[in-house]
Amino acid sequence: MSSTHLIRASFLHCLGDPARQGNSAVNYIEDGACRVSEDGCICEFGEAKSLSTHPGEPVLDYREKLIVPGFVDTHTHYPQVDVIASYGARLLDWLETYTFPCEAEFGDAAHARETATFFLRELISNGTTTALVFGTSHTASIDAFFEVAQQQNLRMVAGKVMMDRNAPESILDTASSSYKDSKALIERWHGVDRLGYAVTPRFAPTSTREQLDTAGKLLQQYPDVHLHTHLSENLEECAWVSELFPEACDYLDVYEQSGLVRKRSVFAHGIHLTDREWSSLSSNNAAIAHCAMSNLCIGSGLFNYARAVKENVTVGLGTDVGGGDSFSMLRTCNETYKVQQLQRNKISPASLLYLSTLGGARALDLDTHIGNFIVGKEADMVVLNEQATPILARKTQHASTWEERLFALLMLGDDRAVFETLILGRPAKTQSMRLA
Ligand code: GUN
Ligand code: ZN
Repeated sequence: MSSTHLIRASFLHCLGDPARQGNSAVNYIEDGACRVSEDGCICEFGEAKSLSTHPGEPVLDYREKLIVPGFVDTHTHYPQVDVIASYGARLLDWLETYTFPCEAEFGDAAHARETATFFLRELISNGTTTALVFGTSHTASIDAFFEVAQQQNLRMVAGKVMMDRNAPESILDTASSSYKDSKALIERWHGVDRLGYAVTPRFAPTSTREQLDTAGKLLQQYPDVHLHTHLSENLEECAWVSELFPEACDYLDVYEQSGLVRKRSVFAHGIHLTDREWSSLSSNNAAIAHCAMSNLCIGSGLFNYARAVKENVTVGLGTDVGGGDSFSMLRTCNETYKVQQLQRNKISPASLLYLSTLGGARALDLDTHIGNFIVGKEADMVVLNEQATPILARKTQHASTWEERLFALLMLGDDRAVFETLILGRPAKTQSMRLA
């Protein structure tokens, strides 16, 4: 039995950032092949005719399909599966009315496990192979999530929410319990298989200064864990933050004062930023997770991607389930495009591919492992089917360039266009349907 296997398809991936390098950042191989080693890493990649031949080697034949790197969702909440499509609220009342009651159920390990299983099945079905994920304040929520992600061999980063004020008692912790619980979860899960931990204060209004300092202490003790929180999503939220933290010069400064702004810090949204906040995000190498679907659904505002490029701030895309109404990174790209259109900023198909793959990997500082098909990286891939729906088939029929094919998939695609999801080079979409 061969210890490697071969994947045949057309391949499309980014080697750099198209916002800086244009389409030369993109590599397209019409008749390509990828050899995957026993451990799920890419050991050869290129034109099919240029790869060495291994007689008898198994082949996954996806010719006529287009393979892109596994999608990276840089901001989502698995416990909010049942909050999706909640009618007519903006951030602060949306949290109180729908989200907090729903999260209160996650002390129940069986409920957490069932929801994590549903959520991860949806991610796989949509071609997402890496995500940065909120749990709830209950440690059981994160144990359940990591157990299911581990079974699926997924590269996932997640954390228990830290929140010690301004929410119902049933989902509050304290500064000291959140420190102890987060530390125990880091010790239990961080670096196990493909899993990583994110210290996760919900957002400034639900943490005391004491708790934010505790989060900073964890980052000092465990420098390679992530920091994951929300920043400047909604104007009422921003006004509340300046009342709660009068000593801070702006919203980001609340986090800076506790040592939370550095590489591997990912801030969801960043819609209403001052000049100082932009330049601080840039100089501290922190990243923004832009969540177009959520920003539209809960009416938060329009993220300025052109400004992020100008300021050299790293950006990834997030679904922000359940503020966002879909698990699909294809649909996220569609809404990202439209949010820029509304501001007269053009975002290219290549940039959208970048943001949902290599850009997301860079935002999470995981691009040495994932994000494109460089030899040595992990073979997480999405097999896209341009025949998936009548309109996709019709639109792509006359597409003559990879750019036209890609834009049609990004604008018209969803989970139906994801023919297969390969985790470490092995088909997982059809198998995930059988998840316990
Ligand atoms: N800000 C604080 N908590 C949340 C949340 O759960 N979702 C979103 N979109 N914003 C938040
Ligand atoms: Zn969120």
